[in-house]
Amino acid sequence: MTNPTVDIINSKAAGRVCWESPANIALIKYWGKLHEQIPMNPSISFVLRDSVVKICLDYDIDPGRSFGLNSFQLNGTENEVFSKRIESYLKRLQSLFPFLKHTRLRIESHSTFPHSAGIASSAAAFSALALCICSVESKLQGGIHDEKFYSKASFMARLGSGSACRSLYSGMVLWGASDKIPYSSDEYAIRLDDARIHPLFMTLKDAVLIADDSKKEVSSSQGHALMEHHPYRQERIMQSRSNLSKLLLAMAGGNTSLFAEVVENEALSLHGLMMSSNPPYILMKPSTISMMEKIRLFRKENETDICFTLDAGPNIHLLYFEKDAAIVTRFIREELAPLCRNGRWINDAMGDGPKCLISE
Ligand code: DP6
Repeated sequence: MTNPTVDIINSKAAGRVCWESPANIALIKYWGKLHEQIPMNPSISFVLRDSVVKICLDYDIDPGRSFGLNSFQLNGTENEVFSKRIESYLKRLQSLFPFLKHTRLRIESHSTFPHSAGIASSAAAFSALALCICSVESKLQGGIHDEKFYSKASFMARLGSGSACRSLYSGMVLWGASDKIPYSSDEYAIRLDDARIHPLFMTLKDAVLIADDSKKEVSSSQGHALMEHHPYRQERIMQSRSNLSKLLLAMAGGNTSLFAEVVENEALSLHGLMMSSNPPYILMKPSTISMMEKIRLFRKENETDICFTLDAGPNIHLLYFEKDAAIVTRFIREELAPLCRNGRWINDAMGDGPKCLISE
């Protein structure tokens, strides 16, 4: 997977491909890079069912012409900021997909969730885009979508946004080389074998509780960069590896209380790292803390292993199992929704992974 090059395509071709790809939520966090898009530690996540980005790509390949991104639309409108990021990503992919050097593209992107919801749209968007490019390549080569297709798409998605490489699979997904898991890699994600995961963990639900929907003051990219000289860098590498082992143990044995303990430790450590970096910063809001306290109290009083996690933002991802859906939904409506910004929360769950919608 280190050098997935293909031959330059010498003939003209045109068509349209559309993929829908989900956002993912990390249980073990990717925070800090070794070097460009190589993670400091392995991470584990699962994809969401309803929080997805659909990308349609119209391509026109002509060996006599050079690359061009003719238009990029986000939810129906031209978007210059994203367009620039996508353009430089596609230029970067040209050494891996030489046909791109002679391709004119029109890209339309639609997401089912608001940009401000604290759900990483870049993971869904870059995984969908990587799948579209890999589909064009496989069409040009008359190929099929086998397991290698997805690892390659994961490799490509990683170059756009690290966490995007984990959006390619259903079930529990690992990105990063670990001596605990054969075939794990820093360059692409893999799906953890079902035999390693107790079936209960395949029924996970995720309620995204919106504590705040304003633009973040510090982006994830800036946060990763601050890990480079972080005083706790080495400790974080050791902690994440130890948490990974514990989480694997919890998921294999159906140990829901250990699962909750590790997941919350990862979320709080992520924000602890932000608060102890130089310069330090705080992304949690007072309502984030109030919701975390309520969730912990509910867990104690109901002996139900619900737990929370956080991405690099103030919004809570409340994780619970399908079997507890009735009591947890009541808890959300009565106690957590009033703490959410304008009462907003998103009812999501573990999903099935990306879908190819059109390939013509
Ligand atoms: C806190 O994948 O957004 O969500 O590789 O720079 O694009 P880049 O970073 P990104 O970082 C995500 C960080 C996180 C934790 C996680 O998803 O594992």
